[in-house]
Amino acid sequence: MTLLLKAENLSRVYPSGEGQVTALRPFTHTFAPGMTAVVGPSGSGKSTLLNLLAGFDTPTAGRVVVGDTDLHRLTESGRADFRLAHYGFVFQSHNLVAILSAQENVEFPLMLAGVPPRERRDRARALLAQVGLEKRTGHMPAQLSGGEAQRVALARALVGEPGVLLADEPTGNLDTKTGNEVLELLLAPAKAGRTVVLITHDAEVAARADYTLRVRDGEVREETRVRV
Ligand SMILES: Nc1ncnc2c1ncn2[C@@H]1O[C@H](COP(=O)(O)OP(=O)(O)OP(=O)(O)O)[C@@H](O)[C@H]1O
Ligand SMILES: [Mg+2]
Repeated sequence: MTLLLKAENLSRVYPSGEGQVTALRPFTHTFAPGMTAVVGPSGSGKSTLLNLLAGFDTPTAGRVVVGDTDLHRLTESGRADFRLAHYGFVFQSHNLVAILSAQENVEFPLMLAGVPPRERRDRARALLAQVGLEKRTGHMPAQLSGGEAQRVALARALVGEPGVLLADEPTGNLDTKTGNEVLELLLAPAKAGRTVVLITHDAEVAARADYTLRVRDGEVREETRVRV
C-alpha cells in the first residue's frame, strides 16, 4: 500500500550538559513513493531524522504524518501497532533475535500481527527465497555471514509488505557485491511504489535512489540532480 510520509516543521533539539544540540532544524518534506537517499557527514542528523520518521524518537516540534495518521498523536502502543502494520526497518547491524532461526526471525513481525502459523511460514519462506536464502532458513543468526544476516533482516523488514521502509546504513558493513544485492532488494519495493528512505555514506548507492536529501549540521536540503 502506498502511504505518503510527511515531515512537517519537524525538529529535534537534544539537551546536552549545560547546553543543547540542535540535531534537526525545522524540516518540511513529503517523501514521494520511490527511494530517497539521505546523505551527509557523520553527526549531521541523519539518524535523528530517521528515528523521528519511525516514531522511535519524539520531535521537539513539528509532526510526522503517514497517510492520515499523525505518528506522535498515537499512544506508545498505538504507535507500535502502526509501525507493525506500515513500517519496515533495516539497520547497519542486523538486529536479528539470536535465539530464533532465520525463518523464525522473518516470521516474528507476522506473529506479532496475529497472522496464522501456516501463512506466516509460507510468507517467511517466500521472502527468504526472494533474498536467496532458501537454504538457510534453519540457521541461527550466529551461523550466518554478515551479508546473509543482513538479507534475513531485509526479508523480515519486507515480509509485512510495509508502505514505508526505513534503512540506516544497511550496506555499511557489507562488501561491494553483497551491498549491491541488498540495495537491489531495497530498490524493488521502491519501484513498486513503496516509500523507501535510505541513509548511506556511499555516493554510488545514493546515485541509484530517485531523490536525495543532504543533511548538514541538522539542516536538510533537497538535492536536485539531473538524471542521466
Ligand atoms: N540522544 C542524544 N542525545 C544528545 N545528543 C544526541 C543524541 N542523539 C544524537 N545526538 C547528537 O545529534 C547530532 C546528530 O546525530 P545523528 O545520530 O543524527 O547523526 P548521523 O548523521 O546519523 O551521524 P552518523 O553518520 O555518524 O551515523 C550529533 O551531534 C549527535 O551527537
Ligand atoms: Mg547515524
